[in-house]
Amino acid sequence: MPLPQDSAGRHINYRVQPGGPLTGYLRVPGDKSISHRAVMLGAIAEGVTNISGFLEGEDALATVEAFRALGVAIEGPDKGRVRIHGVGLHGLKKPAADLYLGNAGTAMRLLAGLMAGQEFSVTLRGDRSLTKRPMDRVANPLREMGIQVDTAAAGRPPITIYGGRPKNLHYVMPMASAQVKSCVLLAGLYAEGETSTIEPAPTRDHTERMLQGFGYPVTIEGNRASLTGGGTLKAIDIDVPADISSAAFFMVAASIAPGSDITLQHVGINATRDGIIHILKLMGADIELLNQRSVGGEAVADIRVRYAPLTGIEIPEQYVPLAIDEFPVLFVAAACADGKTVLTGARELRVKESDRIQAMADGLQALGVNAQPRADGMIIEGSHDSTIGGGDVDTHDDHRIAMSFTVAALRAAAPITVNNCAHVATSFPGFVELAQAAGIRIEQQVV
Ligand code: S3P
Repeated sequence: MPLPQDSAGRHINYRVQPGGPLTGYLRVPGDKSISHRAVMLGAIAEGVTNISGFLEGEDALATVEAFRALGVAIEGPDKGRVRIHGVGLHGLKKPAADLYLGNAGTAMRLLAGLMAGQEFSVTLRGDRSLTKRPMDRVANPLREMGIQVDTAAAGRPPITIYGGRPKNLHYVMPMASAQVKSCVLLAGLYAEGETSTIEPAPTRDHTERMLQGFGYPVTIEGNRASLTGGGTLKAIDIDVPADISSAAFFMVAASIAPGSDITLQHVGINATRDGIIHILKLMGADIELLNQRSVGGEAVADIRVRYAPLTGIEIPEQYVPLAIDEFPVLFVAAACADGKTVLTGARELRVKESDRIQAMADGLQALGVNAQPRADGMIIEGSHDSTIGGGDVDTHDDHRIAMSFTVAALRAAAPITVNNCAHVATSFPGFVELAQAAGIRIEQQVV
């Protein structure tokens, strides 16, 4: 297999020198989950949807391209602005070819739900990392809705959905996954009667909120979300907040690099996404939420983070789904925290863009950190006043592993080379420049 490349066909490594501090005001790019959904719902709404703050990363751009191929006129993105000429619930057209979604699991799983209600069949494909990820978790409920769905062996992509008229479904989800919940609810838009999901723990609720924003009634009762098929979505304007999952790298960086004082601007702090704040605070981090406000139905704040010595904790399992994308960098925080940090109940980390338990354990061990992987988590023995080692680590094709080890270098005794970083462009365009501006001594090497 060739090494993953960036969109210009280059292989990227990062070389990061120890140091810091981080200072200043930073705005990280737009929220990935909200950007995907804004395009999808804008496409099936009636009227023109204007998005600002859109994430111009490869994942969200793959969703834009997919909807263009489905016959939707989309202008932009241009400096975070996207204009979508909605075609209504029944206006999508059969694409001329398979839809290629790159690295974007959210695009594939949510699109699978939408495609269930179309009068045509579609095949969804992804890159090397996405092609290893389980799609049976969405194929199974769609089959229960009477839709034929084919996957490759072991439920992996490519996935073909033979659209039709899905039957309504009351789905008790076997895992805490916003993508599965969203897939079923989006298919439910095309079903007769009520479709509902029951989740085993709270997961991000952007789909429910945004449907409501588009004027589509969704009922939330505890862990149950329900809607009735056959309604319409009315176009709206959407201001996408900065992504807390991207801000997380800088929250940990400032927490572990002595002398740091940063403010992350306009960050989405939706209560189904704020686990990173709770967990870092439990570890002793100095985090302040400023100017809390509501933007288009989503809670937003500026987040000030100052250096503070961290202490290891047992991470309460209730926070796991609320911080599910932040564990790679939280493991770095744990390596720089005094004593033992224990994560349990996080088996889902094994089926992300990489097996994030193994990828982080491998890299941390290579840097001399006592990190013991477990089936559903990790145990890390850290120290707040000694350094970790330098050396080479690999990202396993995973953007968040790449950015996590960049942060780890702040507290290393020698430089860290992070190999295979092209995927950072999926979620965080401009990461290297922003990290440099904040005070991280990172250099991008094209190999
Ligand atoms: C996402 C849901 C989560 C998360 C992913 C984005 C979403 O995945 O890890 O990065 O936008 O719905 P799961 O649904 O698999 O937990």
